[in-house]
Amino acid sequence: MEMFAVFGNPIQHSKSPFIHRMFAEQTGISLKYEKILAPVESFEQSLVNFFSEGGKGANITLPFKERAFQAVTELTERAQICGAVNTVLRLNDNRLLGDNTDGMGLLLDLQRLGFIQSDSRILIIGAGGATRGALLPLLEYGCSITLTNRTFAKAEVLVNEFSSLGKIIGREIEKITSPDFDLIINATSSGVSGEIPAINPLVFTNKAACYDMFYQPTLTPFLSFAREHQVTKLADGLGMLVGQAAFSFKLWHGILPEVEPVLSALYKELKG
Ligand code: ATR
Repeated sequence: MEMFAVFGNPIQHSKSPFIHRMFAEQTGISLKYEKILAPVESFEQSLVNFFSEGGKGANITLPFKERAFQAVTELTERAQICGAVNTVLRLNDNRLLGDNTDGMGLLLDLQRLGFIQSDSRILIIGAGGATRGALLPLLEYGCSITLTNRTFAKAEVLVNEFSSLGKIIGREIEKITSPDFDLIINATSSGVSGEIPAINPLVFTNKAACYDMFYQPTLTPFLSFAREHQVTKLADGLGMLVGQAAFSFKLWHGILPEVEPVLSALYKELKG
């Protein structure tokens, strides 16, 4: 049986084994998938050990995605562009191929929700790793992106890096005061501490959709804020989590599994 694992620290609450086992059941593929708590000081060694013991593929989560980018020998174009790896495949000659499926997972979820069209005007709040992973698929899809961040200089760096790949501009957060967007994505980690980014609620309308890459059992702080300001199309990042896993599964097994049944099961487990 082929062996897969997710590496992170912490890793206890990872949903990846649950998701991949459900994908395996759905597609009739037998596999083993476990969680590996990699020590912060020796993540690379854990990864090497896993593959030398016959591991076929790995998911990489916080805080190791940038280190996995350095540790692999080959990179897909999208991993190269985001500078981070969330999926590793051991090739037949034992070289390790690093991929990044986060952005495709987000796009798949936005399509499933009906939140995105190829001409969508999107506001992305946040300029960290989550945004870096998401930009390429959204730009390639044709969307126009306005990027903002609490620390505007970081948004500017990303805009400069990605401007040759599609329509993207940067804007200071305090200057964004009109309802000019079809979709507003919170890609900040503010929700982790129960906070919301300082975005003017004038950007919200009942026509815009709001997506929070963060998820939790109850409505996230950002989505609650949006709901208080007339937004009805709301979704958190649980679907993105299943979406990125679906594209990892495709890299390993050549089949893109169905997201919906896994997402429903996960919702039931997490949100009751
Ligand atoms: P990740 O890899 O999860 O994106 P990161 O690289 O640390 O994490 O980036 C976190 C992002 O969330 C940044 O855009 C950060 O804003 P700054 O660049 O100004 O630090 C944003 N962020 C975190 N907490 C925030 C808060 N309370 N309000 C607004 N933005 C916040």
